[in-house]
Amino acid sequence: MSNKTNQQWGGRFSEPTDAFVARFTASVEFDQRMYLQDIQGSIAHAKMLASAGVLTGQERDDIIRGLGEIRVEIERGEFEWSVELEDVHMNIEAALTKKIGITGKKLHTGRSRNDQVATDIRLYVRDEIDRILAEISRLQQGLLGVAEREADTIMPGFTHLQTAQPVTFGHHLMAWFEMLSRDYERFVDCRKRVNVMPLGAAALAGTTYPIDRAMTCELLNFSAPAGNSLDAVSDRDFAIEFCAAASLLLMHMTRMSEELVLWTSAQFDFIDLPDRFCTGSSIMPQKKNPDVPELVRGKSGRVYGHLMSLLTLMKSQPLAYNKDNQEDKEPLFDAIDTVKGCLRAFADMVPALAAKADSMRAAAMRGFSTATDLADYLVRKGVAFRDAHEIVGKSVAFGIAEKRDLSEMTLAELQQFSDVIGEDVFEVLTLEGSVAARNHIGGTAPDQVRAAVVRGRELLAGR
Ligand code: ARG
Repeated sequence: MSNKTNQQWGGRFSEPTDAFVARFTASVEFDQRMYLQDIQGSIAHAKMLASAGVLTGQERDDIIRGLGEIRVEIERGEFEWSVELEDVHMNIEAALTKKIGITGKKLHTGRSRNDQVATDIRLYVRDEIDRILAEISRLQQGLLGVAEREADTIMPGFTHLQTAQPVTFGHHLMAWFEMLSRDYERFVDCRKRVNVMPLGAAALAGTTYPIDRAMTCELLNFSAPAGNSLDAVSDRDFAIEFCAAASLLLMHMTRMSEELVLWTSAQFDFIDLPDRFCTGSSIMPQKKNPDVPELVRGKSGRVYGHLMSLLTLMKSQPLAYNKDNQEDKEPLFDAIDTVKGCLRAFADMVPALAAKADSMRAAAMRGFSTATDLADYLVRKGVAFRDAHEIVGKSVAFGIAEKRDLSEMTLAELQQFSDVIGEDVFEVLTLEGSVAARNHIGGTAPDQVRAAVVRGRELLAGR
């Protein structure tokens, strides 16, 4: 009986797969990017089968050589991917068989595509997490440089986007550094749960062959074999976790983006981004748009969406593997690509941002950013805080009417509101005095920024 269905599983079928169904169920267009991990997994599996006596040494060597050739062909763009062969796994296996004959058909002994695909994705995500970690570090390294350079640069700090208290620009950038340190930790933590090996679980129940999972585990650098075969082939919680960590990272990056966009506007005018990270307008000749941070801000949406897709994909799936799981790849891969693109753009751009110190300082002079310092001064002179608050409020109202900052008033003017105010008040009313006074771990004083940069460098050196 002639049978034109898939050669790897067509035995029990009596008619070929519907042409549309073949395309509909295929994943090769998007899972071929796991070719390297698929080959690595197969080589480890073949070595283990040989050591267990299931394959001969000759068969093992033929498989390894064949897979090596296939890898080269794929990397040269010479490999012919076929939708009829459904996915990356069966494409590579069919090519191997074509190359080395019947031995190619023995590779799948004691293995199923279910443990194979779960292994491939984990290897793939593990590699990508390592790249992402390196990029987060590169971005943080860049932040440290700018923070150090701008440790003394004063800008207004905001709450409710209203001028609150003066801060140093270096301190603000070190806030970003802290956020990224937590993102880094989340990916490190996610990697621990990614780095567990499904191989050996076979389709769902394990296999009757005398496999040595410890050996494949070591060959593939996994920390341990998965402890339950049903769980190993079916769960994709690690992909969800990856997208959750990616979403938090992107959320942080949208906050940075938003600030960069605001700061480059004529209204803020705090920083300049190099032209190579900006684009112009086809109609308005004066425009220089901060496209990179805007796009990063926008791209967060896709990653949040992928997190939701994967949660929904896994919801209510009965054990063990279901074809639903093939839908894990596109969201996961797009999340990976998006995160890497955003990190790369930021890591390249951040070291090149130029602070406009005069403009930042002028902004900090508006909005009575040292009002809290005056209240604290009064408290030190024995005034109760609530009374001090009231006195400063009246001084600010006077300043608003006179269009002058507190530091620009005369001593006599200030003394109208409280007679405990003396000549020494001007030390606390200056922007420099205000930031220098917040001189404790985590405070905005320039010395503290420098200390935070030192701590940051130590942290990066220890990674
Ligand atoms: N392409 C499939 C996937 O991505 C591979 C596993 C298929 N397993 C199966 N029993 N149909 O999930």
